[in-house]
Amino acid sequence: MCEINKDEWRDFKSEKEKNTLKPIGVIHTPFKQLEKVPSQAYMSDKEGEIEVFPEYVSALKGVEDFTHITVLFLFHKADGYCLQVNRCMDGKKHGLFVTRAPYRPNPIGLTTVRLLRVKGNRLRVRGLDMLDGTPLLDIKPFVPRFDNQKDANMGWFKEPMDNMEYLLWQEKVFRLIERFTGVKIKRKEIKPP
Ligand SMILES: C[S@@+](CC[C@H](N)C(=O)[O-])C[C@H]1O[C@@H](n2cnc3c(N)ncnc32)[C@H](O)[C@@H]1O
Repeated sequence: MCEINKDEWRDFKSEKEKNTLKPIGVIHTPFKQLEKVPSQAYMSDKEGEIEVFPEYVSALKGVEDFTHITVLFLFHKADGYCLQVNRCMDGKKHGLFVTRAPYRPNPIGLTTVRLLRVKGNRLRVRGLDMLDGTPLLDIKPFVPRFDNQKDANMGWFKEPMDNMEYLLWQEKVFRLIERFTGVKIKRKEIKPP
């Protein structure tokens, strides 16, 4: 059994505190408007900072040894939730719990980011998909052995993702052709996932 370090132990003051999530920090990102935030972190190379409130800084001990961390955060600008959502990836309606939409009964987001640097209570990270000022709820180390499932499928995401990847590959080919021929190729509109 893991030993609790008595010096670092804090009792919850009440049942309410025990059952209530509270921000442990703030996520600073370059995205000031919701419309500008990428849909998923894998599409984002933007850097930002995770600020952990000073009272939790000792919980960061050892974080610099990880290349990736998973952050849980509050979709604090979501005004409500929707049990079925139309996703722009395929234009179809899906049950909320098979989407990553921000409109959830518990508006919690989950993103794995690349950890670049640690300075005191501030973590410099890359690959963000949340609004500037988003409340941080938790940080966990990303451990490939725990978090990767080798036989996982992608459910309904597979088809739109395959299409998207094909279109991105096609775009690269178009750009190469344009560079070498100087002829502009007409594209169909690409909807990001
Ligand atoms: C589809 S979610 C994915 C977030 C996370 N990777 C996940 O899977 O839980 C990302 C979108 O949530 C919205 N969003 C980001 N931060 C938000 C916030 N603080 N409040 C409300 N909506 C937010 C933006 O529209 C963004 O494009």
